[in-house]
Amino acid sequence: MLPRDPNSQKIIDFVVNKGNGIKGLVDTGIGTVPHLYILPTDERLEPNMILPHESIPVIDVSDWDDPVVTQSICEAAGKWGFFQITNHGVPLGVLHAVKEAAHRFFGLPNEERNKYWAGNSPTDAVSLKTSFAPQQEAVLEWRDSLSFHCGPQDLESFPSWPPVCRDEVVKYMKSAEPVIRKLLEVLLKGLNVKDTAKGREDALMIAPMVYFNYYPRCPNPDLTSGVFPHSDISIITVLLQDDNGGFYVRATDCESWIHVPPVDGALVINMGDVLQIMSNDRYKSIEHRVVANGSKDRVSVPIFMNPRADAILGPLPEVLESGEQPLYKEVVYSDYFKYFFSKKHEGKKTMEFARI
Ligand code: OGA
Ligand code: NI
Repeated sequence: MLPRDPNSQKIIDFVVNKGNGIKGLVDTGIGTVPHLYILPTDERLEPNMILPHESIPVIDVSDWDDPVVTQSICEAAGKWGFFQITNHGVPLGVLHAVKEAAHRFFGLPNEERNKYWAGNSPTDAVSLKTSFAPQQEAVLEWRDSLSFHCGPQDLESFPSWPPVCRDEVVKYMKSAEPVIRKLLEVLLKGLNVKDTAKGREDALMIAPMVYFNYYPRCPNPDLTSGVFPHSDISIITVLLQDDNGGFYVRATDCESWIHVPPVDGALVINMGDVLQIMSNDRYKSIEHRVVANGSKDRVSVPIFMNPRADAILGPLPEVLESGEQPLYKEVVYSDYFKYFFSKKHEGKKTMEFARI
């Protein structure tokens, strides 16, 4: 626990300990950003750090069998670690409905949302929290998030999920599943994995999680962080953002940032740390961050496709076949996961846990 000044401690009590979240604090009518949320100047995203003319690729995936499409995916995964896909087959109505569902959940009165606060929730599958690791952070993220474990066993607790959004979450997850399977198939083929037909992508698609990230409008977003720079510890992440913008990924110069503009109906795809490890760095799990909006509440709905807790991760034999040296040792996913959540968001530092 960090030592804090009395006002910050009051805010921690209200936002974290009482489970009102940053949403609850904004609803009290604050007109300025509390000290607890103000970034040191060297951690702010300044306009001169953004490359205005760069962008990640937008790939039309209406024909998964087109070699131009599959090549673009594998190239983007290696160069940018990020790309957007259009014509993916997830109906626009499903995307719209799940964003609306997120707004509905966060529009509930504090005491209704609070029923799902981590520790109170009627089910382990659904949990609400604020920031990333508020006990470890000197400055908190301007974000609340509601997470849903969506594996087959987790769905048994569906009747205890929040009624205002549960149908939309499951529908979105189920509609996105074939797209994720296709992406994994293409990416694994790009690593020379031959048995993808009935295969490894199914084994990898074990423990999906859907998040509702909620960034209430912020009196001065430039001073704050919606999400600190981090890379995802998933295999792959599918992110649905809304039309507010504010999502940035690290540029290939490893210093600047690139804005990911909202593209209507598109999904943002990124490689997670697990795929970087499995591919021995051929695919890149790139840092990204979010800046909240000054006038609107922003939502995003990522799906994190995670391996099983007891999965052993390491560079794939197919990748090392030609005598390439492994860059990572074998790690158990649950150990990697625990390490990630034991500290605040720190860019790409988690990967050192597995690096040789
Ligand atoms: C995340 C994340 C981005 C966003 O939840 O890991 O990077 O737009 N979210 O909310
Ligand atoms: Ni992320």
